[in-house]
Amino acid sequence: MDDYLETNRFNWDDRAGLHATDPTDRYRIERVLAGGSSLHALEASEIGDIADKDIVHLQCHIGLDTLSLRHLGAVSVTGLDFSPIAIASARDFARKAGTEARFVEASVYDAVAALENRTYDMVYVTWGAIHWLPDIFRWARVVADLLRPGGRLYLLDGHPQMFQYKGEGDGHLTLIHGWRTPADAPLLFEETHTYTGDERPLIHQRMYEWLHPVSDVVNALLQAGMRLDFLNEHEVLTWRHYPGMIETGEEQFEQGPGLPRIPLSFSIGATKAA
Ligand SMILES: C[S@@+](CC[C@H](N)C(=O)[O-])C[C@H]1O[C@@H](n2cnc3c(N)ncnc32)[C@H](O)[C@@H]1O
Repeated sequence: MDDYLETNRFNWDDRAGLHATDPTDRYRIERVLAGGSSLHALEASEIGDIADKDIVHLQCHIGLDTLSLRHLGAVSVTGLDFSPIAIASARDFARKAGTEARFVEASVYDAVAALENRTYDMVYVTWGAIHWLPDIFRWARVVADLLRPGGRLYLLDGHPQMFQYKGEGDGHLTLIHGWRTPADAPLLFEETHTYTGDERPLIHQRMYEWLHPVSDVVNALLQAGMRLDFLNEHEVLTWRHYPGMIETGEEQFEQGPGLPRIPLSFSIGATKAA
């Protein structure tokens, strides 16, 4: 299992280096450095009250959303990611923005020890996170262990059903992946370039992913002692996953007119029992 995660880390180190210097500004770097927010409309509308909250952001990548949460009123923010390049970039952005934030390099599965058993008011996880993790039940236990009683999880990610299909040029969707990926038999992908449109190639092109049914995510959280506050499915994504998708808002994409609709993303709010 460690070999899969190590392969992914090399891939993410490459991507983090590219994203931190991305000419397309997909990550809204200038906006965040000026004290603004990189959150999309969807998560901004769902996250709820974060004023005075102590937030840990898992799989924080280059830290821009982490800094944004602080800019939006969180009293303290901690970002965690296993990519040293991502963490170095996040610290650099925090310094440039003049924003107080802590960034920790660790695997999600080691988060509790890496954060010295500290607990938080909120665990924040969004866009492109849980499909990098082989065991969703273990992830949910980490989430619960990081929260104080009454603390909340906000999760927003690509819908597993959306990841099952390959989009064709005519808008047709072809079913290519099963709905549940065994931990020891991940999906293997090879990509020459990252998803931002950057023309600079990736050196480490191989990556492993796992699809987790929404029911597994919910049951994992319930088993870990969390109470479900909401489960929403959305017709929008923050990237063009299929060629037939159209941009309908700032970095908000949905299926083009006349194409069948499927859930493209989902979100969960959950609270740790007191
Ligand atoms: C698509 S990015 C998430 C972007 C994030 N929503 C943001 O705020 O920009 C996925 C991140 O997950 C991290 N990651 C993948 N597997 C991980 C693991 N096992 N432990 C910690 N971080 C991991 C990668 O390094 C990468 O930065």
